[in-house]
Amino acid sequence: MSEHFHRGRRLRRTAGVRAMVRETRLSADQLVAPLFVCAGDQWREPIASMPGQARLSPDLAAAEAAELFALGVGSVLLFGIPASKDAEGSGAWDAQGPVAEAIRRIKIAAPAMTVWADICLCEYTDHGHCGLVDASGVDNDATLPLLARAAVTAARAGADVIAPSDMMDGRVAAIRTALDAEGFADRLIVSYAVKYASAFYGPFRDAAGSTPAFGDRRAYQMDPANVREALREAAADVAEGADMVMVKPGLPYLDVIRAVRDHVDVPMAAYQVSGEYAMLHAAAERGWLDLPRAMHESTIALRRAGADVVITYFARALALALRDAGPSRAGDA
Ligand code: PBG
Repeated sequence: MSEHFHRGRRLRRTAGVRAMVRETRLSADQLVAPLFVCAGDQWREPIASMPGQARLSPDLAAAEAAELFALGVGSVLLFGIPASKDAEGSGAWDAQGPVAEAIRRIKIAAPAMTVWADICLCEYTDHGHCGLVDASGVDNDATLPLLARAAVTAARAGADVIAPSDMMDGRVAAIRTALDAEGFADRLIVSYAVKYASAFYGPFRDAAGSTPAFGDRRAYQMDPANVREALREAAADVAEGADMVMVKPGLPYLDVIRAVRDHVDVPMAAYQVSGEYAMLHAAAERGWLDLPRAMHESTIALRRAGADVVITYFARALALALRDAGPSRAGDA
């Protein structure tokens, strides 16, 4: 008897066929591993809300970067935790600070690793906001030269990628101008073009001590309800000279990733943020989720939605899984 219905299961029956027809792949060189860098030597302080992640002194950050590179991870993204903070966030352009030191050491320990420097003031200001604060709030235009200064400091230390995460208007143009003027026309800018005012940054703010002392970030980060606004932000950053744009957070914003992918033609990154990572770990700890599978599924979803590059705290675990299972079989255990 002939059958007139669709037998989709034929393409799913064996692991070999599933691998053959898989539409989206994840490979370690598309992953960016965020690292938190603090002052000190041989110092490793676990971050309670982000199991497996730690604040590392520059020497240990370099050792970690070398291990990640050996696993095939292409990039690290550095966040600084300064020894002291002030009103203007001067630690952001301290050439002797933990991030600058870590960049120099990573370039020795793993010279081919692509090093991204997150550029923002919130980890460095005593009030925890991403820019200079005056009576009316965060002063956008007064913050731009400070961000440019931080970018040049990171470039001088050896950063390949400057990644501004502050959400000030005009910062990509200001940073591009400063980098070019200082002889760093060859460094990339990956802007956090589409960054939402999200509850999912909670564990990061614990890790970096960057929770705003007053107010919140809704006057500069985006409203979670908006997607057309994301297209304007991405287009503006591309026009100002961004080489790549980012959408952040990841999983709650898959539609935004797809919309931005269809709207601009520069490469795009998605950031699976600290809260997404913590959430999966917390559920797995209770036995409610299978962590290796959930980690793979949630990151391949970001690629499927259109991200070329995935920034994730799972980078190391994913790279290990990809190495052990092979790129086409990982996640199909
Ligand atoms: C700094 C910055 C933040 C994150 C990346 N860069 C925190 C924030 O905006 O409050 C969040 C990353 C994460 O949650 O993993 N502005």
